[in-house]
Amino acid sequence: MKQNNFKIAVFAGDGVGPEIMKEALKILKLIANKKNINLQLAEGLVGGSAYDHFGVPLPDSSLELALQSDAIMLGAVGGPKWEALDYSLRPERALLGLREKLGLFANLRPVVAFDELLDASPLKKNVVHGIDLMIVRELTGDVYFGKPRGVTKGKDGKRTGVNTMVYSEDEISRIAVRAFEIARTRKKNLLSVDKANVLESTELWRNVVTEVGRNYPDVTLKHMYVDNCAMQLIRNPAQFDVIVTTNLFGDILSDEAAMLTGSIGMLPSASLGENTALYEPIHGSAPDIAGLNIANPLATILSVALMLRYSLSMPQEASLIEKAVADTLKEGFRTQDIHQQDKKLIGTEKMGDAVAKNLCKLLN
Ligand code: IPM
Ligand code: MG
Repeated sequence: MKQNNFKIAVFAGDGVGPEIMKEALKILKLIANKKNINLQLAEGLVGGSAYDHFGVPLPDSSLELALQSDAIMLGAVGGPKWEALDYSLRPERALLGLREKLGLFANLRPVVAFDELLDASPLKKNVVHGIDLMIVRELTGDVYFGKPRGVTKGKDGKRTGVNTMVYSEDEISRIAVRAFEIARTRKKNLLSVDKANVLESTELWRNVVTEVGRNYPDVTLKHMYVDNCAMQLIRNPAQFDVIVTTNLFGDILSDEAAMLTGSIGMLPSASLGENTALYEPIHGSAPDIAGLNIANPLATILSVALMLRYSLSMPQEASLIEKAVADTLKEGFRTQDIHQQDKKLIGTEKMGDAVAKNLCKLLN
């Protein structure tokens, strides 16, 4: 029988997090009501707001909540208020801690250019037309977690900083399997991005991805160096289908790819592990506009769609949310980050309402 009881951990976080989360939950509850899904939403603190309350960015209670949930929704963490804190107490540690402790090794960042927003891209319209790519970023390995790490002082009093780029064969093959599986559901083109001409750890990456590829003869596998990929993303982004890459390269390439669509305020993400998954917008906490009801909630709303698709087995409803967002843009509604002449400028809450209204029409 299809499961219709889900426990979702909700971490709104800092800055604009609470405002955008409110709109995303509006959409989630709407789907739950219409489809008779029983949702248990449990809120917790992470990031700077958790630090203010508990003195740590990821309190045990929040980690426990995450571990007991079917899926996790996260707004954003961070802000100038916490920037002077020791590295181990910064809001970002909450994100890294959740990724590590929940084993969220596969980060999916779909980059889709909405036709309505093509003018908002800094690139020419003909370059960004038709972009529909998926970045699969490894999320629990590489220099982000590799040891040794830190800054040491030598006898001469001079400091040395070190981080370690490390990948085991198993870490590479499990992310490769996910990427091939995803490519299978799309155009069946997988590009693996590395720096195998210089870095041994990514030469292993290339070899293991190639080995895994033998089990997926229906998917075309190609390899590209990361510097070339950074250039190709600007030159001809429509050539890409699925890109699989390391943690650090994926971090950088996904920000670059996000900008192709005009606004980082549009892009959702999913971080998948073996047992649970976390959904969040790609953008940060935007403390400068927090509380002003002007932040774009669409990336978080689109993250709800990813949660329905990947964690709650509701792919049709996921597509309906994506359609409702596209319809809302077609009606001309815009938050300030994507606003253009002749369009209707609205705030965070009104944007959530507009998507909800379109979703209602589609659900009926
Ligand atoms: C991201 C962010 C994080 C990362 C930061 C906030 C730790 O940039 O999710 O891309 O580097 O992974
Ligand atoms: Mg990043």
